[in-house]
Amino acid sequence: MTWVKVAHIGEINEKSGKEIIVNNTRIALFHANGKYYATDALCRHQDGSLAPGKIDGEVVECPLHSWHYNISTGELLDYLAGVKLLTYKVDIKGNDIYLDV
Ligand code: FES
Repeated sequence: MTWVKVAHIGEINEKSGKEIIVNNTRIALFHANGKYYATDALCRHQDGSLAPGKIDGEVVECPLHSWHYNISTGELLDYLAGVKLLTYKVDIKGNDIYLDV
């Protein structure tokens, strides 16, 4: 795995997300609870982008049909047990945000 700088602190408001592309992979970077989280960007239902989804605690709601995922574990919280998004480790160095991809 490789650490890649993907954003700056302050670029993503609290309770917001931003979609980034790293190595041709769409990743959602979220800022919530004073921390940063990263998951696959695409919902497992019909590939809706999760980055603009509403965040409540560690849960993001897909903007298209309201499926819910835990942004820390990637776990889908509705419907199909065992469905998960990939998650990525996040590190902060100075004003920069890095992902382990
Ligand atoms: S695409 Fe996310 S719930 Fe349908």
